[in-house]
Amino acid sequence: MCGIVGYTGPNPALQKVLEGLKRLEYRGYDSAGVALTLSKGQPLFVAKKAGKLNNLENELAAKHESAHSGIGHTRWATHGGPTDENAHPHISNDGKLAVIHNGIIENYLELRKELESRGHKFASETDTESVAHLLSEHFKNTGDLAAAMREICQKLRGSFTLLAVHSDAPETIVGARRNSPLVVGVGAGEHFLASDVSAFISHTKQALELGQDQVVEVTPDAVVVTDLTGQVVQPKSFEITWDAKAAERGGFTHFMLKEIFEQPKAISDTLTGRFTESGVKCEELKSINLNAKRILILACGTAYHAGLIAKYAIEEWAKTPVDVELASEFRYRKPVLTNDTLVITISQSGETMDTLMALRHAKELGAQTLSVCNTIGSTIPRESDAVVYTHAGPEIAVASTKALLTQIIALQVIALYISQEKKTLSTHEISKLRDAMLSLPNQVEEILETVEPLREMTRGFKDSTSVLFLGRHVGFPAALEGALKLKELAYMHAEGFAGGELKHGPIALIEAGTPVIAIMPPVTSEISEKMRSNIQEVKARGANVIAICDANTEVDASHVIRIPSTHELLQPALSIVPLQVFAYEMAVARGNDVDQPRNLAKSVTVE
Ligand code: F6R
Repeated sequence: MCGIVGYTGPNPALQKVLEGLKRLEYRGYDSAGVALTLSKGQPLFVAKKAGKLNNLENELAAKHESAHSGIGHTRWATHGGPTDENAHPHISNDGKLAVIHNGIIENYLELRKELESRGHKFASETDTESVAHLLSEHFKNTGDLAAAMREICQKLRGSFTLLAVHSDAPETIVGARRNSPLVVGVGAGEHFLASDVSAFISHTKQALELGQDQVVEVTPDAVVVTDLTGQVVQPKSFEITWDAKAAERGGFTHFMLKEIFEQPKAISDTLTGRFTESGVKCEELKSINLNAKRILILACGTAYHAGLIAKYAIEEWAKTPVDVELASEFRYRKPVLTNDTLVITISQSGETMDTLMALRHAKELGAQTLSVCNTIGSTIPRESDAVVYTHAGPEIAVASTKALLTQIIALQVIALYISQEKKTLSTHEISKLRDAMLSLPNQVEEILETVEPLREMTRGFKDSTSVLFLGRHVGFPAALEGALKLKELAYMHAEGFAGGELKHGPIALIEAGTPVIAIMPPVTSEISEKMRSNIQEVKARGANVIAICDANTEVDASHVIRIPSTHELLQPALSIVPLQVFAYEMAVARGNDVDQPRNLAKSVTVE
């Protein structure tokens, strides 16, 4: 979950590296650093600083225009606290070699002991520093940085993306990857290496994907990829379809707000090409057995909530039983899976370590695998039998918003497609659902056009100590999502409950004035009355109820947030939007860093 970038070419490297790091800062922001090759055989220029990237930038201010290759890193601390010493790059004792790393080197203590016994002096508490010393030893023997990298990768255990530079090869950057992401940007007479394409999309749209256990050597004019035995391999090339503008804030105060407002377009992009006059299209599922006896959805965090919501649609429409499990739990148990189980993983980044490991676990057990993902070329879709991309565009804010809505929609498209193929829904039913889905972009737009009173109301709750979220049926996972967003952004106690569970314990939390956000189902739902009773139960104990409901629903609450009417199963794509705005506004009101909340990183590529 760190951000990694490298540049080699005719332009000043510092500028390109810092620009890339700004785009990758969402991946980690505890500390940052750069290493630049100034002249052949001389010590590298290295600068690193604890704290956000601008601490480092202030220190560097337009230095070292002369360096034409360099690497940079933005860190999310795992081994060793966020200090200047622990920030990357880590350097060899002669100062000529620098390494940056994303991931965890599991055998670093062993390596460190051996390296110290051979006289290497360590300056940090990190696992990464062992790699720098080990690589420098191997480079001394071979004089070839890529060969040295291949050798040491065979000695490393764990997950890593590594980039290294050595001043004896001033134009060269060497990278390696195992279970962590690394892509190459191919420009005209210049190359980039980065954790993801957002680091270089303003310079090139041509990219190469690196496979597992591969080493890449780039100079301004060449890219050579090999496996760990030194065998040259042909990397897969792809074109980046994201627009550089899409990764910038575009006039919004925060990326999160921009991404909330991008949701109508994101949903519309997810739905593009999915419907024909005669039904639903999902070519990606052609190779998948849609008559699977069972579907198991695996994901983490917000993506897990998308899975919980999708379960209702898959079971109701396609009549296939669905279980939804946290990927981080699944991978550590002994599940019973067979080849008639379809495992669906959901991931915005496509790199979440727990989800990736759960996918591998499921594959080993013989299940078919499908992923729902936003990031083209990332590891999870690459390792799945089939993939449906969500097309949400780059999501930079750490808190996931448009990725979630598009995951829900993509999964519901999959549910409709399975129903069509299994003939569990009639053509008429599918067309009605299609029309309802196609209305969602405009309906989300409508919510966003009338969001000001909600923002003002939210500020009134800024000193609350706890907020509870209540829902039933698909409103329950929506409530879980509302609570997760508030925790991660506003640092407040927040919990989501199923309405029916209130009296089994959680109602004891209600005190005079406790804000309770209740998600009301459409009035036609069989649980509408039940939710109304839940509101009365918490009101009777002093709760301050904020109800989210459609225009046809009458409700007795202190504040009512209206959303357009839709099919009950599609409602979370609308009811979650005010919850996102509530969490956003609360974080702003409490003076928190909205796009980079404390202790979090965008993509969790460590266990
Ligand atoms: C919360 C959030 C996280 C992610 C989770 C999975 O706002 O963003 O809970 O949903 O870390 O990430 P992906 O979808 O990249 O696998």
